[in-house]
Amino acid sequence: MNAPKRSVTTLGQFIIERQADFPYAKGELSRLLRDIGIAAKIVNREVNKAGLVDILGEMGTSNVQGEEQKKLDVFANEQFIAALGSGGECCAVASEENEELVAISTDVSKNAKYVVCIDPLDGSSNIDVNVSIGTIFSIYRRLDPNAPVTEADFLQPGVNQVAAGYIIFGSSTMLVYTTGKGVNGFTLDPSIGEFCLSHPDMKVPNSGKIYSVNEGNAMQFPQGVRDYISYCQQDDKATGRPYSSRYIGSLVADFHRNLLKGGIYIYPPTSKAPSGKLRLIYECNPLAWIVEQAGGMASDGGQRILEKKPGSLHERTPLFIGSKDMVRHAEQFLTQNRG
Ligand code: AHG
Ligand code: MN
Ligand code: MN
Repeated sequence: MNAPKRSVTTLGQFIIERQADFPYAKGELSRLLRDIGIAAKIVNREVNKAGLVDILGEMGTSNVQGEEQKKLDVFANEQFIAALGSGGECCAVASEENEELVAISTDVSKNAKYVVCIDPLDGSSNIDVNVSIGTIFSIYRRLDPNAPVTEADFLQPGVNQVAAGYIIFGSSTMLVYTTGKGVNGFTLDPSIGEFCLSHPDMKVPNSGKIYSVNEGNAMQFPQGVRDYISYCQQDDKATGRPYSSRYIGSLVADFHRNLLKGGIYIYPPTSKAPSGKLRLIYECNPLAWIVEQAGGMASDGGQRILEKKPGSLHERTPLFIGSKDMVRHAEQFLTQNRG
């Protein structure tokens, strides 16, 4: 009798199968990804309980951006740092929730090859209203494994990433990641507690009919962005306009929807925030690499996100990301207005 055909591939199996893609790696990157998957399940458990236990609401402390931290932000930050620290593959973490890098000084970790950048909980204003939130991560090889880890290890351009991904805690929980060989998405099956390959080799359509931007700030946008938004809103049968406006306010969720359906997400510079709001190393770079690996595009309006050289851990950048034709088109509006 033939053995029954395996119908699901778990994240763990998939990571091991793909390990051969990294001839220089001795399995450390695979173990790091596995640790992130485990932390994601723990955070998922707490996110799903958020309405039940006293974990909602603000904790009374602010993060380094001066924004109020919610309890789940703190919990997610602790869980991911603990998971990354216990495996011995990561020597330091840069997190949205910590002003300085967090060095992991255990014996097994201090000489580890990798550093991790993380937004442990993205879309935190949506926690207590039961709307999708997420986690974003990005992994780099450290510059010199024999020298002490420093900020320079984190201030590498996004093209140097070796793995990047996000977890979306939505109507289902998904983990989506790339190691530079395409993008794969895994859905958590809560009955067996495993992420299962559900979206192999994800591709973003070249164009779409969705634009995502916080239009409440429109008066503060550069003229080129306002003109592009007007373009999206105009009636034109041939190009399927008007496009639909969709904005959740959780970058991960807005990005994920547009990745699947096609669309553009914009967080432009505003008069109050000339570099926009989003952070280069742990929000924009990971998603920029994923979108490029899926056939899309990410820019700051003039420059490819992945080529920007970060100057500091919490640096911000404007972001235009999604379907290639739409990002290019938005850039044209900006160029025209720069004259
Ligand atoms: P975080 O919760 O990690 O601070 O990120 C919030 C970000 C991002 O998720 C979202 O796209 C953006 O803030 C929304 O900002 P606005 O409310 O200014 O539109
Ligand atoms: Mn965020
Ligand atoms: Mn966050």
